[in-house]
Amino acid sequence: MAKSVVCQGEIAIFVLMKKAYIETYGCQMNVNDTEVIFAILEKAGYGRTEIMEEADLVMANTCSIRDNAEQRIWGRLDVFNSKRKPGAYIGIVGCMAERLKDKLLDTGKVDLVVGPDAYRRLPRLLEAITPDNPQMDVLLSREETYADITPVRTDRNGLSAFISIMRGCNNVCSYCVVPYTRGAERSRDPHTIVREACDVFNKGYREVTLLGQNVDSYLWKSEEETVDFADLLKMVAAISPLLRVRFQTSHPKDISDKVIETIAATPNICKHIHLPVQSGSTRMLELMRRKYSREWYLERVAKIRSVMPECGITTDVIAGFCTETEQDHRQTLSLFEEVGFYWAFMFAYSDRPGTLANRTMKDDVPPEVKNRRLKEIIDLQNRKSLEEYRKMIGKTVIVLVEGPSKRNPEEFCGRASNNMMCVFPAGELRKGDYTEVTVTDCTSATLICK
Ligand code: 5AD
Ligand code: SF4
Repeated sequence: MAKSVVCQGEIAIFVLMKKAYIETYGCQMNVNDTEVIFAILEKAGYGRTEIMEEADLVMANTCSIRDNAEQRIWGRLDVFNSKRKPGAYIGIVGCMAERLKDKLLDTGKVDLVVGPDAYRRLPRLLEAITPDNPQMDVLLSREETYADITPVRTDRNGLSAFISIMRGCNNVCSYCVVPYTRGAERSRDPHTIVREACDVFNKGYREVTLLGQNVDSYLWKSEEETVDFADLLKMVAAISPLLRVRFQTSHPKDISDKVIETIAATPNICKHIHLPVQSGSTRMLELMRRKYSREWYLERVAKIRSVMPECGITTDVIAGFCTETEQDHRQTLSLFEEVGFYWAFMFAYSDRPGTLANRTMKDDVPPEVKNRRLKEIIDLQNRKSLEEYRKMIGKTVIVLVEGPSKRNPEEFCGRASNNMMCVFPAGELRKGDYTEVTVTDCTSATLICK
């Protein structure tokens, strides 16, 4: 065992003899997975380090969603190999591990390959590993939710924590690799979620973000109870009025009136919905297997706005999916014009091996056309962001104080309920306080307040 115990009178000090360094790529879910991995590694005698050169285990928790995400990891692998301390092992975990499996070991640059559902077995793999005996576990599971593991928080502010409420994905969006890298959808026991949220609240955190690939399909069924996402939101929000509850990601096909009305009726559930649209063209949405139309999406937005006019809506979009025409593209632009998202993640389509689109469709939009369309969406969105932020001028919002702003330490920053970033004079405020501010000016990404 890598753990030794030193006794000083009655006090036992556990000395963690080995150190693990992990870089995290991709989504917030991966950030939370890294925290789960640190908790599991702790049991195997590994403490956490932020210095790669002193680590006994150097790992990347990876993302496969677009080709450029994977290209970045290949670059980092070379850096790991050149900087690692002699005898340190190199691991690839997460989505890229699941997708590439032994192809990663074949490069000779990696000693450990572990998929998203196999982290619990890390201690066993590390016991078995030797320089000549690399280890791999990429088994997917129908049950694993790491429900009982208390993540080692890696955030720097001690204010905002991410909690996974489910794993995997049962949708088959034709462009997406996630169902193959993260397996089937399963929901976590709601009581373990509430316990984890209580625990972070007691440690001083004031915001939790509930994470899932499709939070609206969260469903827990046991003999005693059935808990859906709206019920779960209520349970977590009931912990304390001082705990803000956020969530991501919602799916336009599944976001129910019950969820929308629960958000509206509960003051400490934040009025922000990240609702990825992917395309404004119904023809594209059908090819993407999104299971909703442009009209359906616009109706959901109208419903949200009818009960919560102040709700911030953000989105994801893909430019240049298979067979996309100029007309389809103009439909996306017109949807962006119509909805007025205040923020969007915008991507050029990246063909991913093994997906439905990869197997059955042709990636036939030339790269220069994809990039031009993407740029048109970005330009339009920049204008709309400014418009949406300007609409906030004169309004009063409640912010959760995060601390000094990056640009000007005399000022503090914090987010409004709709997730817009606000800056305001520091005054007597402290991190974790709630304060009311009035918006006096803005940029396209910040509200300037007094
Ligand atoms: N190419 C480009 N963007 C993609 N996304 C998912 N798969 C792909 C792909 N193959 C985007 C979607 C999703 C976000 C997380 O990443 O917009 O909502
Ligand atoms: Fe990337 Fe998707 Fe995996 Fe998250 S779930 S790491 S976004 S591929």
